[in-house]
Amino acid sequence: MRVGNIKDVAVIGAGDMGHGIAETALLGGLNVYLTDTTEENLQRGVANIEKSLVRMLSGGKISDETVAMAKKNLHPTLDFEEAVTKAQFVFEAVPEVLEIKQKLFQKLEELTSKETILATNTSSMLISQISQFLHHKERVVGLHFFNPVVVIPLVEVIKGKDTSSEVMQTAYDLCVKMHKTPVRVEKDSPSFIINRVNGPSRIYLGAVVDKGVAQPEEIDALIRYHGKPIGNFELCDHIGLDVIHDASEYRKGVLHPDYEPYEKLKEKVRLKEYGKKTGKGFYDWSNGRPTIDLSKRTDKVKIEDMDFIKFNEAVKLLEEGVSNVHDIDLAFRLTGDEKGPFEAVQNFELKEIVQRLEFLSDRYGKEILKPAKMLSEYYDDEQWLVGIGK
Ligand SMILES: NC(=O)c1ccc[n+]([C@@H]2O[C@H](COP(=O)([O-])OP(=O)(O)OC[C@H]3O[C@@H](n4cnc5c(N)ncnc54)[C@H](O)[C@@H]3O)[C@@H](O)[C@H]2O)c1
Repeated sequence: MRVGNIKDVAVIGAGDMGHGIAETALLGGLNVYLTDTTEENLQRGVANIEKSLVRMLSGGKISDETVAMAKKNLHPTLDFEEAVTKAQFVFEAVPEVLEIKQKLFQKLEELTSKETILATNTSSMLISQISQFLHHKERVVGLHFFNPVVVIPLVEVIKGKDTSSEVMQTAYDLCVKMHKTPVRVEKDSPSFIINRVNGPSRIYLGAVVDKGVAQPEEIDALIRYHGKPIGNFELCDHIGLDVIHDASEYRKGVLHPDYEPYEKLKEKVRLKEYGKKTGKGFYDWSNGRPTIDLSKRTDKVKIEDMDFIKFNEAVKLLEEGVSNVHDIDLAFRLTGDEKGPFEAVQNFELKEIVQRLEFLSDRYGKEILKPAKMLSEYYDDEQWLVGIGK
């Protein structure tokens, strides 16, 4: 299947991500069948698309004609079979629960022709696990969009263990047609680029909180003080602490036991304080976005530690053949960071980074913070950034 043959797509799940993917596909000129399990969720998704189109129209980003075309091409339906049998390309955006996704893909295999491309929007799972029970695994690909989908240009295009090169290329081309900037993830590896690189610093900051070294707001104040648009804990509240918790549990199983959710996160999930969606998480969201008092910033955490930890994990992605320096930096810039993980550390001495990582790993008892093997190879090399591929 070539991208030119794709006219009709199905989006399964009309939640936070599904409605955004559907809207993006509509803006790319595609005919969209949007489906969900309940009328309420389906209609909420449709209303969110309409609200967003109006916002874009009044902001001058799209024309009246585009809005009319998008509305005409949107087909919400509770009839799963109708939605998927008409599509040449299916986007799955149902909850991040392996069994739900596996069952759904089996159903998709039964109902669609074997040319139909099946994409999952999983944020952490191995593509080969999701496609495990299919006969034609080569047509399953990962397409990881970011929230809010219409705003963030990045899509990670993930080649599962069995994904064919043709399917990978068509998925990539379809993202371009939808006005997105795709980045290839060449190996089936959990959490891909952005979430994988961000994972260890989240665990580190959780350990800082659990040890009583600094409070979430003090850490976020430090991050915001240094010019980032959002702090770590506010972002977790925004994503949903239940989602962060479950992703951490999954990584604990497939990547490293250090991903065990930290105590404060477990406590929040026990209390069902999931963040923005429940009105309370690390912050109170009942009056909208929390105000963070920058004067409360902690002096117990060094801001560059976050960059060192991200860089270290990014180097592990190079070692594993998941991606390359250019694409990793690009992916981070596309999600709003001023610099990618390699760009962020280029004025530091490698020795300083390695020594600091060793210190943090010992201080917090986290093996995932240990310097990547490649870093010790270049420890005494002044051209270390060139050596690792920049
Ligand atoms: N929220 C984010 O920031 C984010 C970012 C990137 C990727 N993701 C991933 O996207 C996926 C969806 O996440 P979300 O945040 O949109 O979840 P969500 O809970 O907002 O929406 C999921 C929707 O799927 C529907 N659904 C459940 N089972 C279904 C089925 N069998 N058939 C059809 N619809 C079904 C639910 O009713 C719900 O409306 C997850 O895999 C998640 O990890 C989420």
